[in-house]
Amino acid sequence: MRLVVVSNRVTIPDRYEKATAGGLAVALREALEKYGGLWFGWSGAVGEDTRQVQRGNVTYAVTDLTEAERQSYYLGFSNRALWPIMHYRLGLTEFQRSDYMGYLGVNRRFARALAGLIQPDDVIWIHDYHLIPLAAELRRRGVTNRIGYFHHIPWPSADVLGALPFSATLVRTLAAYDLIGMQTELDVRNLIGGLVDLCGARQEGRRVRLGARETLMQAFPIGIDVEAFRRLAAASVRRAVTPLRATRESLGERKLVIGVDRLDYSKGIVQRLEAFGQFLLSHPEQRGNVSLLQIAPPSRSDVPEYAELDRMSDEVAGRLNAQLGEFDWTPIRVVKKAYSRTALAGFYRRAQVGLVTPMRDGMNLVAKEYVAAQDPADPGVLVLSRFAGAAQQMGEALIVNPYDTHEVAEAIRTALAMPKSERIRRFEQLYHVIETTDIDWWRRRYLEALTGVPLSTGAVEPP
Ligand code: F6P
Repeated sequence: MRLVVVSNRVTIPDRYEKATAGGLAVALREALEKYGGLWFGWSGAVGEDTRQVQRGNVTYAVTDLTEAERQSYYLGFSNRALWPIMHYRLGLTEFQRSDYMGYLGVNRRFARALAGLIQPDDVIWIHDYHLIPLAAELRRRGVTNRIGYFHHIPWPSADVLGALPFSATLVRTLAAYDLIGMQTELDVRNLIGGLVDLCGARQEGRRVRLGARETLMQAFPIGIDVEAFRRLAAASVRRAVTPLRATRESLGERKLVIGVDRLDYSKGIVQRLEAFGQFLLSHPEQRGNVSLLQIAPPSRSDVPEYAELDRMSDEVAGRLNAQLGEFDWTPIRVVKKAYSRTALAGFYRRAQVGLVTPMRDGMNLVAKEYVAAQDPADPGVLVLSRFAGAAQQMGEALIVNPYDTHEVAEAIRTALAMPKSERIRRFEQLYHVIETTDIDWWRRRYLEALTGVPLSTGAVEPP
């Protein structure tokens, strides 16, 4: 078989890739190198270019988006309608018919381009919410290959998703897939409920029958390359990477609490800053002893809700620093830039507490990276939102409700005061979980399921 991966963004690897590429990109690339294959998607650029680049036995086929497509398909329907509603944020969901038309248009255009590149034995693996109707469009063009979908973000219940205009039509297109992978069991239950309630599908265990087609739904919690990240963290300490050296100088013996997230409202950054402020207010003896470093590289800044978050995080951090800071101690540092993975690994290892408190998250790989980066002889403590998919696997973290500022504040205090023996016990259990369900395990399980699933041959209704 040959593997075809399709994702919204495709980064063609260059010789610097090792330092910057994240776990998922590397894992998919490794799978493609193993089977030989094709990676298709958006180049990330605005323009009119399409090109193919060969790297070893992998072809990268990328296409630009026009500015109108970027606005409607990417910023509009994907990130102002689907993203908030999938994260249970009905109040932030902005629906425009023209955006939905643009979204369908790009999926149609991708299907047209991709159909010409597909070979009879290809197994096609499509990723994420930008591309939900892609398989239906490929089927319309006569593609009968196995097609799998993996949804990287949460899937809400039918009564939430049902508020999105055209949601039933969109969800119905999922019948074109042979296998649908979700991050958690809850997502699978919600998805099946949605297909049944919104589209009248029939459920038989994990299989859903819609019209003439049958699709298998299953949870495949995504992981990280634990060993590679552990090595990166150890090396960053040995090599005293520059930002770490500077942190050491500016923090001295002070403890460090760390948060690392794209600047996205689903990540609960503002609520986290407030919780840290609450912790300092409730425990004045801790002032001057500990700082919060929030690394938050900007994301989707053209979307108004993200620009608003940018402003609010500055405002809250500024207010708390002015209220609680001292001439020689800054309680909160928000750094809005991206760091290399080596530097991040080093920051995680230096931090006594990893604060991963999204309001809702598909999995959250920062939780796993934080654990992988710890010193096994003196590990830090993970504080984890119960609304991150990772919480289903990582019960030995301090599990919190991110909507409860006091609870998060108390978890920070508990984490900072936790005896070493308990930290080691929790760390060992967490490490075992992430090591046995790493990125390689995820990819293998998914591809085994996709190649083993019985093929359904019925026709699919177009969106
Ligand atoms: O996890 C969801 C996701 O959309 C990924 O597909 C993507 O890598 C990440 O968020 C960043 O989003 P964007 O591609 O919009 O910058």
